[in-house]
This record gives sequence, structure tokens and C-alpha cells, in this order.
Amino acid sequence: MSRRSIIVLAAAVVMLYFSIILFMLSPLHGAKSAYYGNSYMNHFGFRQVPSVNWCKELKWRSPPSPNVVALVSYPGSGNTWLRYLLQQATGIVTGSIYMDYGLRVHGFPAENVTDGSVLVVKTHEAPPLEPDKFKSAILLIRNPRDAILADFNRLHKGHIGTAPKSAFKRKSQEHKKSEWANYVSAQLPVWESLHRLWLTRFAGPVHIVFYELLVQDTRATLADILEFVNVTVTEVSYFFIIRG
Ligand SMILES: *[C@@H]1O[C@H](CO)[C@@H](O)[C@H](O)[C@H]1NC(C)=O
Ligand SMILES: *[C@@H]1O[C@H](CO)[C@@H](O)[C@H](O)[C@H]1NC(C)=O
Repeated sequence: MSRRSIIVLAAAVVMLYFSIILFMLSPLHGAKSAYYGNSYMNHFGFRQVPSVNWCKELKWRSPPSPNVVALVSYPGSGNTWLRYLLQQATGIVTGSIYMDYGLRVHGFPAENVTDGSVLVVKTHEAPPLEPDKFKSAILLIRNPRDAILADFNRLHKGHIGTAPKSAFKRKSQEHKKSEWANYVSAQLPVWESLHRLWLTRFAGPVHIVFYELLVQDTRATLADILEFVNVTVTEVSYFFIIRG
């Protein structure tokens, strides 16, 4: 084949790939755009930034608290949801030992902030070796079946996605079991040790929150957490007086 026809062929292949990509990204055919709906993805399939409506304008804790509170959980246990609830109730930002860029642009500006200028600091790790890093801790516990499943979904499709069915069936090469079965056997001891370490090795006070109770009775569970972190919020009640 002449050099010229090779170039023409290469150009044709590139064009073909490009058209396939454009086709898949178009709103009708991209799986993701169907999932997120039009408000989330624009016509080219790029993510748009949905904004969170905060009840109060978010601010930093002022003055900063000398008492840094850890918000501990196994991944997939509602840590970000609880941070969201706390930010809504208090208007004070919550921090994290991680820098999750996705969360930072979606309503959690204090990613990677771990001092007293935030209300609580998210962590999925064992208690830190420096004894003064956290003075107290909120331990958010979700039953391991749901937590491990939720985190498996997050690993595949991000914070609000669901892993495809194929991800549960796929067999790993070295084992006979599916990747999912291996994942569960590997994560169960991680789930167990995280909770055990915070309950036995952490010197400060630990406030336990069960995710399932937080779902069932959000208001009372949240009120207990706010009491633990010494933040008072006034609830606004509306009374409707019907005059006869
Ligand atoms: C996180 O914060 C630390 C110290 O405040 C800083 O050195 C580091 O660069 C930050 N990491 C990212 C990814 O921004
Ligand atoms: C809340 O206040 C109590 C009593 O003053 C104090 O012992 C505790 O450390 C405070 N907790 C936090 C998280 O600031």
C-alpha cells in the first residue's frame, strides 16, 4: 500500500472513532445522560455543576474550636449525607481528611480541611497516631451489607451511581469467585476493625450514630449529634391559626 493510502486509511479510522464517540455522548444514546437527566448533562455529555440550595449561607466555624471532632465511618455508610445534614442545620462547613474534588465543587468547600474551623472532619481511617488530632469522634455505623454494597457502587459509578450488573458477575483471574464475592470477603474484616479500633483505641469521647436510626428519625438523631458537638440551632416553627 502506498504511503498516501495509509494516511487516508488512518484518517478514515480516526474520523470513524470520533463519530462513534460523538454518537455515544449524545443525550439520547449515552447511558449516563439518561441516568442523570437533562439537567445534569448538557448536549455534549459534559457534567454540569448542580448546585445545592443551602438553608443558610455556609460559613466557617468562628472562632475555631480547639476541639476537633472526627466524623468516622466505613465508606458507604452515609458520611457525606450526614455532612450535608449538618451543614444544612448549622450553616457551618464540614471538613475531611481527603480532597474529593467532586465533593468540593458540589457543596463541600472544606475538603482537605482538618482543623477547628470546620464542624466535623470526615475520615474512613483508623484513629490517628497523634493523640491530639481529634479530641472526640462521631462514629457513624451502617450495617455492613448495605455499606459494602454502597461503596462497591461508588467505586464503579461515583457518589450517586450504581454499579452495573456485570460488575457483580465478573470473575477475577486468580480466584474462582466473582470480584464482588472477593470484595465482600476482603471488606468485612476492614469494616469490623475500623469500628473496633475507634471503640477501643480512641481516648476521647465517642458518640455512636446508627445510620438506620438516622434514616428513621433524622430530626432526633441529628439533634443528639448537634448536642454532642455543642452547637445550638433554633428550629423555626410555623403556627397556623385558623380563625372561625
Ligand atoms: C491539603 O492540605 C495540605 C495542608 O493544608 C496541603 O499541603 C495539601 O497540598 C492539600 N492537598 C490538596 C490535594 O490540595
Ligand atoms: C462540648 O462541651 C463540653 C462541656 O463544656 C466539653 O467537655 C466538650 O469537649 C465539648 N465538645 C465539643 C465537641 O466541643
